[in-house]
Amino acid sequence: MTRRWLVTGCSSGLGRALADAAAEAGDLVIATARRPATLNDLVDRYPDRLSTVALDVCDADQCEAAVAHAVDRFGGVDVLVNNAGSGLFGAVEEVSDDELREQLEVLTVAPWRLTRLTLPLMRRQGYGHIVNVSSIAGRIGLPGLSAYVAGKYALEGMSQALAAEVAPFGIRVHAVEPGGFATRYGTSLTEAAHRIPAYAQSTGDVEAGLRGMSTNPDLTHPEVFAHHVLRLVASPTAPLRVPIGADAYTFLEAAEAAGTAELAAAQAFIEDSAERPATYTAPVTPTA
Ligand SMILES: NC(=O)c1ccc[n+]([C@@H]2O[C@H](COP(=O)([O-])OP(=O)(O)OC[C@H]3O[C@@H](n4cnc5c(N)ncnc54)[C@H](OP(=O)(O)O)[C@@H]3O)[C@@H](O)[C@H]2O)c1
Repeated sequence: MTRRWLVTGCSSGLGRALADAAAEAGDLVIATARRPATLNDLVDRYPDRLSTVALDVCDADQCEAAVAHAVDRFGGVDVLVNNAGSGLFGAVEEVSDDELREQLEVLTVAPWRLTRLTLPLMRRQGYGHIVNVSSIAGRIGLPGLSAYVAGKYALEGMSQALAAEVAPFGIRVHAVEPGGFATRYGTSLTEAAHRIPAYAQSTGDVEAGLRGMSTNPDLTHPEVFAHHVLRLVASPTAPLRVPIGADAYTFLEAAEAAGTAELAAAQAFIEDSAERPATYTAPVTPTA
């Protein structure tokens, strides 16, 4: 079966590898990027199967135009991949309202908007896939990545609700959770404008790990991500949330164990309470 893809953030990294792999497999791809010229080599390689369009996912008009281009060029969208993303480094106290809004706009609002624009096409045809590129930071609250974590958790929550909403229409939803991949992510991470030195003790290790991503030889290659996403959309049984990369499983197994221990500790705390809440009394309706 030939699928029609719309992939965001294809200038580099995971999005580029996926657009390349999908076209290589014979599928039709709308590869989007803020700077479409970065995709010229892919157009040269797949002139009939890959088309580009300028898309800053934070620009609502460009989002509409990208979906319209997919309809004009290939007649619709079978797989939407919300991949575009950026990281902001800063503890909660360091991140301003505007910085938080900007991060949530890219990580949560834009995927939501593109999903909303694409769903009518998918409902009409009675099938489709929405693939939201989350992160292990969509399940683990890494210190110093507070805004990024908030954006990816929101994306995962949205994905879970969406999956149940659209299942009756034959539309499937996945949140894929990459571990550490060898992309520009670590180097393109921006910092909150207002840093507070005291936070280095709680956030420094995470920041050093992220900054070191570009030279870390143990990171997984983007082609592995692309390979598994292609398998995912071909599988009728793949689960909603799919971590990708061996390190993702190591992190998430530890987080799962910590979650189980936390639940048990919370239950023990509640049950140990000597003070019982007062019996609830309904408020008296005031009389005139
Ligand atoms: N690499 C990892 O280890 C890792 C781990 C977990 C999750 N992820 C997630 O994977 C996704 C892809 O990241 P990557 O690792 O491939 O990093 P990357 O190489 O930095 O690629 C990020 C892509 O997103 C694009 N982008 C950023 N803001 C955009 C916007 N407003 N509109 C349109 N495009 C925008 C970038 O385009 P420009 O060239 O225009 O900046 C670039 O194409 C992200 O959602 C990221 O959060 C990555």
